[in-house]
This record gives sequence, structure tokens and C-alpha cells, in this order.
Amino acid sequence: MTDTQPKPTTTDTGIPVESDTLSLTVGRQGPILLHDHYLIEQMAQFNRERVPERQPHAKGGGAFGRFEVTNDVSAFTKAAVFQPGTRTDTLIRFSTVAGERGTPDTWRDPRGFALKFYTTEGNYDMVGNDTPVFFIKDPMKFQHFIRSQKRRADTNLRDNDMQWDFWTLTPESAHQVTWLMGDRGIPRTWRHMNGYSSHTYMWVNAQGEKFWVKYHFISEQGIEFFTQADADAMAGKDPDYHTRDLYDAIKQGDYPSWTLKMQIMPYDDAATYRFNPFDMTKVWPHGDYPLVEVGRLTLDQNPTDYHSEIEQAAFEPSNLVPGIGPSPDKMLLGRMFSYPDAHRARIGANYNQLPVNAPQAPVHSYSKDGPMRFVKASDPVYAPNSKGGPLADVERYGEPAGWHADGDMVRSAYEVHAEDDDWGQARTLFRQVMDDASRERLVNNIVGHLLNGVSEPVLQRAFEYWHNVDQDLGEAVEKGVRAGHHA
Ligand code: HEM
Repeated sequence: MTDTQPKPTTTDTGIPVESDTLSLTVGRQGPILLHDHYLIEQMAQFNRERVPERQPHAKGGGAFGRFEVTNDVSAFTKAAVFQPGTRTDTLIRFSTVAGERGTPDTWRDPRGFALKFYTTEGNYDMVGNDTPVFFIKDPMKFQHFIRSQKRRADTNLRDNDMQWDFWTLTPESAHQVTWLMGDRGIPRTWRHMNGYSSHTYMWVNAQGEKFWVKYHFISEQGIEFFTQADADAMAGKDPDYHTRDLYDAIKQGDYPSWTLKMQIMPYDDAATYRFNPFDMTKVWPHGDYPLVEVGRLTLDQNPTDYHSEIEQAAFEPSNLVPGIGPSPDKMLLGRMFSYPDAHRARIGANYNQLPVNAPQAPVHSYSKDGPMRFVKASDPVYAPNSKGGPLADVERYGEPAGWHADGDMVRSAYEVHAEDDDWGQARTLFRQVMDDASRERLVNNIVGHLLNGVSEPVLQRAFEYWHNVDQDLGEAVEKGVRAGHHA
């Protein structure tokens, strides 16, 4: 065989096969023979090609890139990934939340912004969204919230009545729903949106000092959005528009980038800050905690096999490296259990051995066996041992990034700080951040959404909800719906 000839087709065990097109039969008219193991391999592999899609965030796309530190933040964290001059390989996956794997990219929804840093201290995942807040603040509500966004049991249809029923019975959602119904609810592309941790995390420096932090990845492409009409048209024309846009931009060498900026709160401020800093339905106004630059994320490499590199990518908020820790945000603490559990169920117990999930740092864990394991375990398989196995070392890596916790076991809402209420920050967003044109689009988007299948008494509650955010907004929404039309 010369180099110009195509490679021979083989079975999955490397055995050359006789035909790509013809099955093995007795005579030209058949029957087909059971021992045509290549035909059977084709059919059987095909039947097993899909892994279950992610429950939320099923539709998405992603790319590889790098993160470069551009500012010295070593006073705030000892994490190797954020030390001056450090450059780290990354993987990002963007997504919509409520749809399935085939649903249009331009539907109104928050966008996922899931980032994996392959650091020298193990994988660090920042699994955020394109909005700085969220709909709820207790993990007990998450499954119910997502079900209200997905499909009804009876018709198998999505249902705006169900969505507004949940939102209006959950006033803490008002801030995020205002974001969602406004221009940020449909980014023009994934390149034209910011990414946020939304949660508060902890940073710990080399001296053991602790800080509360929020991440902001600011798009260097600028913020652009689709109007509802343009997004609807695009959903029909190209349901994969965002996936295609990212792929094409990277292919053409037009690498998208984001500047990482942090809000950093001294540890002791948390107790007395005007908002409870662990309530993820609230932002910290930038006037209180200005943005501090950290570095730059650039995406410069497309996946070459979507399934193995993006569909089987496993992001987990529990992947925190030394110098970065969780906070008392109950949502974040709930997520630290949920994601590894989702991966075990969806991909399998050894999901972290897949190349896209495997760290660049060496692994010395005591895990062994399980389906599809291919990295060899080695003895000793237990600790403590006197046989030279890996040794956890609190002296070297320090105490867990924690905080003082003490109290009775309760099922209770967060402590209320001076300015905490469900409507205030939504009102500020409406009155002070949006301009007249975006306020008008917000009203039209809400009215359009409410006119699409929302009935009494949910409708009445929706009017009250928007009245609570802002009197003018409530009146405009009610008037628009009562008139039964929208722009
Ligand atoms: C995906 C659970 C809140 C961002 C997922 C998945 C689960 C989940 C089970 C699917 C994971 C997979 O199969 O790979 C939860 C729970 C939450 C919560 C229990 C609250 C208690 C949030 C919040 C954010 C967020 C607040 C953003 C700030 C994401 C993103 C993905 C995702 C970006 C997609 C990750 C990817 O691209 O693979 N979530 N979630 N989630 N979630 Fe959450």
C-alpha cells in the first residue's frame, strides 16, 4: 500500500473488513448471516452512540483556550492559576438552560458560561452564567424551578403559565427575571456576553488571609443582543446560530476574549454589608466593591470531536484548588454535591479519566475499578499505609478554606441585612441601569411572554410582581396584556 491509498476500514479491534456497503448474505437475495460481526458492530455501536443529555443546560457548544494573568492579585489568593505571569489551558462550554440538545440557540434563557482551568494544582472549574444573579437562593428549590421551565407531564409541552406560576410564588426571582426579560435574555452570540460566577467564593492568600470574591468575565467583543423578533427569526433560520458563530470565529482566527475582573470583599465586611453577600439573587454594587483586573481568557481552538470533548465534558463547582474555596452560599454548597453526581449518572464513575476531564496535574488518588476504567490503579489501595502510598498533607496545603459555623439545625431563610428585599435590586436595574429603549423592550418582552398561555390567577400575580418591582413597569405590563397586543 502506498501513502496515497486510503487507510483500510477496520473493526473496532483493528481487523480489516471486507465491505463498507454490503452485508454478508447467503446468495444475492439473503438472508443476512448472524455472524456478520462487522454489520452487528455497526448497528450495536450506533444504538449506543448517545449518552443522556445534561438535565439542565443540554444544548451548548464550546472551545479550548488559555487564561493569562495580567495583574498581581497574589495579595488576595495563593492559587497558582492566578499568580503573575501564569498561563493556563482552559475549556469553556456555553449553553442554554431549559431546552434540549436540539433546541434553538436564540431562545430567551440565561446562558451557561462553564470554564475549566487545567491548573498545575488540579482542575479548577468556574461554572457560571451570563447573568450575575440567579432565580432562587436555596438548592431545595432548584429541581422545582427547572421542572417549571421544562415540559408539562400531560401535554409534553413547555408552558409559560407554569413558569410564571413558579416565578410569582418565588419573589426572590424578580431580579433575575428582570435580567432575563431584558436585552441580556438573548445575547447576539456567545462572544457578545459576559460571564459571571454569580456566587460569592472565598480567596485565601499565602498568609492565610481570607476574602469574599465574585468573578466577572467581561467580553472584549462588547455586549450585543437580539431583539425578540430577530431571535425568533434566527431560531427558524439557523437554530444552531450561536454554535456556528463560535466555531466560525475561531476557525477564521478571530479569537474571542474576556477580561477577568474580580470584586473583592474583606472577610469581616460580610457580617455588616448592606446586602447579605451570600444571597445570589443580589449583586454587590460596583461602587461598593470596584472591579479588580486579574487576566485574560482567549479561545483559540475548536473541538475536533464534539462528543468526546464537549458532550462528555464534566464541569463541577466542587473543583476548587488551594487558594480558592466556597462560601456560605447555600446554592453553591448544594451544587458541590450535584454536579459530580450528575456526571457519575450521565457519563459513568470514571468520567474524570476522559482526556477532556483529566487534569494536567498528576493524579495520586485511591480510587480504583468501576466501569470503563482504563488508568491502572496501583498498590497500596488503602490509606493509611506503610507501603509508600500517597499522603495527604495538611501542613503543605493548609486547612480547608472555611469559616466559623455554629448554631442550631434549622430550615430557615438567610439572615436579612439592612437593604435586603426581593424587589429593590430589580428596581435599580430597571430604573438606573436600563435606558428608555431597553425599558420599552423589557415591557414588550414581558407582555409577549404573558400573552403566550398565562391565565388567571397567575396573570394577576404577574401584574403584582411587576408592580412590586416598579409602579410604572407594573402598569405598562398590565396595560399591554389587557390590550392583548405587544410590539
Ligand atoms: C448544569 C445542577 C445552579 C450553571 C447543571 C447540571 C446539573 C446542575 C445537574 C447538569 C450537569 C451535567 O450533566 O453535566 C444545579 C443545581 C443548582 C444549579 C442543583 C442549584 C442548587 C446553577 C447556577 C449556575 C449554574 C446558580 C450559574 C451560576 C450551570 C451551567 C451548567 C449547569 C453553566 C452547564 C455546565 C456544562 O456546560 O457542562 N446544573 N445547578 N447552575 N449549571 Fe447548574
